[in-house]
Amino acid sequence: MDLIRWGIVATGNISGSFTRDLAELPDAEVTAVASRSMASADRFAEVHGIAQRFDDYRALIDSKVVDVLYIGTPHPQHYAVARAALEAGVAVLCEKPVTLNARQARDLADLSRANGTLFAEAMWMRTDPVIQAYFEDLRSGVIGAPKQVLADFGFFKPELPERLLRPDLGGGALLDLGIYPATFTYMALGKPEAMTAMAEVNEDGVDLVTSMIWRYPGAMASLTCGMTAQLPWIAAVSGPEGSLMLPHRWHHPDHYIRRTAKGDERITVPKSGLGYHYEAAEVMRSLRAGLTECPAFPHDETIDILDLLDEARRQTGVTYPGDDEFLGG
Ligand SMILES: NC(=O)c1ccc[n+]([C@@H]2O[C@H](COP(=O)([O-])OP(=O)(O)OC[C@H]3O[C@@H](n4cnc5c(N)ncnc54)[C@H](OP(=O)(O)O)[C@@H]3O)[C@@H](O)[C@H]2O)c1
Repeated sequence: MDLIRWGIVATGNISGSFTRDLAELPDAEVTAVASRSMASADRFAEVHGIAQRFDDYRALIDSKVVDVLYIGTPHPQHYAVARAALEAGVAVLCEKPVTLNARQARDLADLSRANGTLFAEAMWMRTDPVIQAYFEDLRSGVIGAPKQVLADFGFFKPELPERLLRPDLGGGALLDLGIYPATFTYMALGKPEAMTAMAEVNEDGVDLVTSMIWRYPGAMASLTCGMTAQLPWIAAVSGPEGSLMLPHRWHHPDHYIRRTAKGDERITVPKSGLGYHYEAAEVMRSLRAGLTECPAFPHDETIDILDLLDEARRQTGVTYPGDDEFLGG
């Protein structure tokens, strides 16, 4: 079996979870890791049994020892690293939000197409087996035409990770958490004809809470996210014949509830690992098929969703130092 060689950029929280899950795939090999510091690269490499270590992201991209790069830096750092990899012909799976804004994501999608190099946003929810079963069910018409979506994502922690509160690290609820309700709603109803957003913004300009209404011809969605309250953290699509409901921590669920005239049915789908290897497997299938875009992570949808988040930020006045960074021609 041909192994696909992964390189990991950044040694933080999500890089660790993703790398752990790659062990679920017998045809994946993690050949290298890069950190801003050698001590951290060494530490990460020891935990995950990785041979090559770099103290510079660029050195890993230039090393030619990987087929695909996984990027797990904070959001403002995604764009430059992903662009450098795509320019060098190294495929990219980059954490969500793939960039700070739609303009940067459009540039990466254009470069991916021009260079024939795969580029995907690591929106792992899209490849979760329960979520996939959920959307198959929805599309079968079991609840009739979808009329309303409710989706929230939020929690309160007395000590939030620094990353979530610092503007220079892309802090704020919308980009980190709100992207899940936004992606879910887009998957259910597509692009809205109108949207409105309101936010509670702190003195540093970071949104602690953002709520949005997306309006469609004949349908409506309510989305909210926040870092000040223990939200129910659930999502549902409803139609005249019933509802499909995803429970607490719905973006990686172990079941959903189909509520129709027949009563409540609990639908489960067997899963393994933490859930990150499903997105990795999708990337590997796409690479082997010679694609530059994964069927589960369409570039147009990634960009549309960032356009909607841009519009929400325009309405709520949230900006980031990296918003103007643009490396395209
Ligand atoms: N899919 C998911 O379930 C999920 C979950 C959590 C987060 N995420 C996404 O993953 C990204 C990272 O989140 P995380 O929770 O893993 O963050 P984290 O624990 O803070 O780790 C981020 C890593 O990025 C690197 N980095 C590069 N430039 C940095 C800078 N200026 N300041 C701080 N760190 C910097 C650091 O690694 P080195 O020191 O090794 O360079 C750091 O350890 C975010 O975009 C987030 O939205 C996704």
